[in-house]
Amino acid sequence: MSVVLVTGAAGNIGSFIADQLIEQGHFVVIVDNFYNAKLDNIREHLHRGAAALEVCDIANYRTLQRVFAKWKPEYVSHQASMMIMDSREFPFDAIDVNIKGTFHVIQAAVEHGVRRMTFASSASVFGNPRYVPVDEEHPFDNQTLYGATKIAQEALYRSWAFRHQIPWCGFRYYNTYSERQGMGAFYTQVFQKWILLIDKGEPIQIYGDGQQTMDLIHSEDCARANVAAMFREDVANELFNVGTGIETSLNELKEMLFRKMGKSVPVEYLPDDEHLVRRRQCSTKKIRQMLGFAPRVSLEEGIERYIHHMRATD
Ligand SMILES: NC(=O)c1ccc[n+]([C@@H]2O[C@H](COP(=O)([O-])OP(=O)(O)OC[C@H]3O[C@@H](n4cnc5c(N)ncnc54)[C@H](O)[C@@H]3O)[C@@H](O)[C@H]2O)c1
Repeated sequence: MSVVLVTGAAGNIGSFIADQLIEQGHFVVIVDNFYNAKLDNIREHLHRGAAALEVCDIANYRTLQRVFAKWKPEYVSHQASMMIMDSREFPFDAIDVNIKGTFHVIQAAVEHGVRRMTFASSASVFGNPRYVPVDEEHPFDNQTLYGATKIAQEALYRSWAFRHQIPWCGFRYYNTYSERQGMGAFYTQVFQKWILLIDKGEPIQIYGDGQQTMDLIHSEDCARANVAAMFREDVANELFNVGTGIETSLNELKEMLFRKMGKSVPVEYLPDDEHLVRRRQCSTKKIRQMLGFAPRVSLEEGIERYIHHMRATD
């Protein structure tokens, strides 16, 4: 059994990482400042003593250092981050959390002799793709501050973690969704927003013609990629794209949601937003070959799980 520190583990992907680590017999130290977290995501682990919660802001190095000194983690998974919309609205905070905070996590790991690390990057680093499926070598065409902070994060692992010889793997998640997402994601996540609107019988909005595509991957699968890489001594200092490789257009998604929810609502087509990425499709080749990873939760199942959870917690 190892002690694994997971930043952002009371959030969406991080809490699935905690679940899977605990299932394998590890003890998880949850570092989260509850900026976009849900206690329900981790309550059971805390109750059973399988995890400890440290309410801590990664932007504050002294506090983070104390947490590392207290728990002496052997492994670290870094998921905490400011979200895309907030990064635009609060740019200084985005730099503090996503760049300085990431440096703090790496530096604390260096000082406390952590063995291996994984971290969350994003498909946002690529911007509008020049070709699909997007492989790991695709150029960075990002134009958002959030994407810039993710590129900076990757650079910190490539340089500082590498220099200090802590092996790491980073994951560029595609359109990640689950029933555990906080309401903070509401403004960016079509999936979550539409389900709630359809449930209430209210119209949904599509910017443009609805032919824009997403590569929707369940958060539980993103977590599985992290946990697979965490203990693989033969895979080090690699970045992986994490998606299903399946493109789903907004029009297809709405039809699936109507079908699964057993009702449809009016659709308002609004002028296209030029800032939105038009296509997302991830190449799954590298992660399949190097980590033997393949997603397990289909979009159909993911939607069913979301609806079930929403109705059960109404
Ligand atoms: N959800 C997506 O579609 C998506 C796509 C690509 C990349 N990512 C990245 O994956 C990671 C996890 O995303 P998620 O969907 O689970 O988001 P999330 O918001 O559900 O989880 C992030 C967690 O980090 C915590 N956190 C934020 N700032 C913190 C700080 N300063 N100190 C301590 N904790 C802090 C939040 O409270 C939250 O619990 C993030 O790094 C995100 O940028 C997400």
